[in-house]
Amino acid sequence: PRTIFSGIQPTGIPHLGNYLGALSNWVKLQNENPQDKLIFSIVGWHALTLPQNPTELAASRRDMLAVLLAVGLDPKRCVLFHQDSNAMHTELAWILSCITPTGKLRRMTSWKSRLAQSRNANDESEVDESMLNAGLLTYPVLQAADILLYRATHVPVGEDQRQHLELSRDIADSFNRTFRASSRMFPLPTALITPSKRILSLKDPASKMSKSASDPASRILLTDTANQIAAKVRAAVTDSITTGVTYDPVLRPGTSSLLSILAACADEEVDAVASRCTGMSHGELKTEVAAAVDALIAGPRAEFERIRGEVGYLDQVARKGAEAAKELSAQTMVQVRQRVGLN
Ligand code: TYM
Repeated sequence: PRTIFSGIQPTGIPHLGNYLGALSNWVKLQNENPQDKLIFSIVGWHALTLPQNPTELAASRRDMLAVLLAVGLDPKRCVLFHQDSNAMHTELAWILSCITPTGKLRRMTSWKSRLAQSRNANDESEVDESMLNAGLLTYPVLQAADILLYRATHVPVGEDQRQHLELSRDIADSFNRTFRASSRMFPLPTALITPSKRILSLKDPASKMSKSASDPASRILLTDTANQIAAKVRAAVTDSITTGVTYDPVLRPGTSSLLSILAACADEEVDAVASRCTGMSHGELKTEVAAAVDALIAGPRAEFERIRGEVGYLDQVARKGAEAAKELSAQTMVQVRQRVGLN
């Protein structure tokens, strides 16, 4: 049987990329495979790698749990918990960081793009990493610890997490070899890349839809109303190199991105959607996309507004989740400590 683990940062209301690239797939896994063990975490410690307003972080942390329930995850079926309520994540992360070469961390594209950003911000041509916090560099080790603590075999994520997953496999393998025993400590986790793996920014189809982009019109939030969705989609970047609508991610990235979103909402192949839309104008395409997105999120949006106020229930789910997570990970840590000689 598979053990499935995944995580999401509590940095505000999730956007359509998080929903299509991760959350909707978690729900699908829950509903399709009753024999799998499912563990989903809200990763508060990862959020601290960027500056956070503590009051907002506390609110986002609770809201994210409400979102997980609103999209249809069932706390009876899955372990739903806050990473920061189980300190074994940081304990394992420390141990793993001591067998992980810094060179591997410097090769992560997430690290390289942070470096590039700080270089642009400071207008310096020399790469200077001395001002970036150490957490940004070691973040993927904490992610590996999240996964390995539960000896997860499968990790559903979007395309942007593929490299981190490969590193987690490397770290698992390196622990297994360094601390050899009669049985292998960690299974090598496999990435389950979501079919709609990369949802793009509405304003810049060269980059992914992200929580941290400065323009709020570049992303659709799970709480956006039908009118807000329509306005953002109407303002999305498209092109007019030929009339009508065609799927061509290289020459027509904006138009193609809208077709991908439509396909993901309808759970259809993008080619099928593209051929159905050939005769449309961009205006017609956008009307259809906005309606499809609204139909997709209407249920979770209403459910979120309802659950977010049930503070007592949310606290209870979080408490139970933390207990279950600690019980599972304690078994791993007894063996890890033994193998490294710190039992
Ligand atoms: P995070 O919080 O940035 O994103 C959560 C999930 O959403 C996916 N995603 C996207 N998918 C498609 N298109 C997009 N534009 C898009 N933006 C985000 C991400 O791939 C991810 O699956 N480091 C992770 C959190 C994490 C984690 C883990 C994940 C911590 N520990 C262990 C898996 C296993 C992160 O920052 O995800």
